[in-house]
Amino acid sequence: MSDKKDRRGRQVGLRSGPRLALVLGTAATLAVGATMVFAPTASAGTTLGASAAEKGRYFGTAVAANKLSDSTYVGILNREFNSVTAENEMKWDATEPSQGNFSYANADRIVNHARSNGQQVRGHALAWHSQQPGWAQNMSGTALRNAMLNHVTQVATYYRGKIVAWDVVNEAFADGGGGNRRDSNLQRTGNDWIEAAFRAARAADPGAKLCYNDYNTDGQNAKSNAVYAMVQDFKARGVPIDCVGFQSHFNAQSPVPSDYQANLQRFANLGVDVQITELDIEGSGTTQANNFARVVQACLAITRCTGITVWGIRDTDSWRASGTPLLFDGSGNKKAAYTSTLNALNSGGNPITTPPTQPTTNPPTTPPTTTPPPTTTPPPGGAGCSATLSNNAWNGGYVTTIRVTAGSSGTNGWTIGVTLPSGSTITNAWNTNRSGNTGSVQFSNVAYNGRLTAGQVTEFGFQGTGNAPSGTPTCAAS
Ligand code: XIL
Repeated sequence: MSDKKDRRGRQVGLRSGPRLALVLGTAATLAVGATMVFAPTASAGTTLGASAAEKGRYFGTAVAANKLSDSTYVGILNREFNSVTAENEMKWDATEPSQGNFSYANADRIVNHARSNGQQVRGHALAWHSQQPGWAQNMSGTALRNAMLNHVTQVATYYRGKIVAWDVVNEAFADGGGGNRRDSNLQRTGNDWIEAAFRAARAADPGAKLCYNDYNTDGQNAKSNAVYAMVQDFKARGVPIDCVGFQSHFNAQSPVPSDYQANLQRFANLGVDVQITELDIEGSGTTQANNFARVVQACLAITRCTGITVWGIRDTDSWRASGTPLLFDGSGNKKAAYTSTLNALNSGGNPITTPPTQPTTNPPTTPPTTTPPPTTTPPPGGAGCSATLSNNAWNGGYVTTIRVTAGSSGTNGWTIGVTLPSGSTITNAWNTNRSGNTGSVQFSNVAYNGRLTAGQVTEFGFQGTGNAPSGTPTCAAS
């Protein structure tokens, strides 16, 4: 992999030359499957952020501080998006231009803008081989390790409480078939630099979700397998990681992979959130529109896919503007890709309450240790429900997914009982309210997944240490 220079002459860790220069003339090369039709639902939102929020997710964009004085840009930003990522302003070169001197003015402009408009903020990125300040580029060994850890600590502390999720480490794996770490000055400080960065970030901002973020990991391949193995290992050893970001920069040479959803799902099955962090898809017209819709559909089909960020607002704002890869044209008009994205958000499979006849998730690629389907049927007539559990277990820990099926009367709410084996402790849970973490544990619905129609299914999950539970959970409906 030879890193390339971006248009400002800095090293960026993204692919080889022709790829970025590519302009999609042959839309057919990106065509995948049949044209998709998304009929908006009655409760459809009319902006990307509102529609994503209806599905319990965010829809964000990368923001450049120097565009916050552009009224067209800000108008779209405030209308459409409920999450922002600083495109460059939180990177190492921007926040610590000389060692020990921190500079947050531009990042603060973005954070303050977001907060005053009710938008959440993703932090990007604490430790990365690219866009390092010159002084760090020239460092090595213990001095660099300590400088990196100090940087992580200082920046995460400064923004403590304001960042929903941090890209703690960005692009640490190499492209190609080896599944190796990328060579970099950080990597040469020792293979444990990634976990050291995550531990420092957790200590500095315990409330932020901590993500690993990369590109060319969107489908299953040697690189994503290597990231998967790292996340699995971190989970097993208690290294604090909460999410994996999939940059999702697509074009003809790197199209939306056919196993995109399955790949994101297998990461989610490890007990981390997944997020689409830098989405852009070169192209135009219907082909581009369908590709955006596919990405949105994949995220909506995965319970733990918590949101999507596009890497800029108008095509002309893009770091690869010649590929017209975004949702608004240079004048700020909505493109076909905008409409398909909005429609997909409004109509896409809602993973939280998926009708059983239309499963929208592919089975995990690593078969979980599953229990058989329920042998009990919901009580007839009453407001019953049933539940099954499946586990993804490793030595010392596990992730359990519980599938709740409403009985013939549907539910207004539900409560699930699970008995944990002795020595087993739940460390976190999602899409549920939990009481207790050892022995007999009760889970109840949260606001958005209690109301189920007859036969409808919803899923929630939890993670624990020790042995995974087994058997059939109890289910009581209200
Ligand atoms: C890009 C920015 O969009 C450009 O403005 C900058 O010149 C180079 O970096 N992967 C990442 C992002 O994680 O930070 C990169 O952003 C795009 C690739």
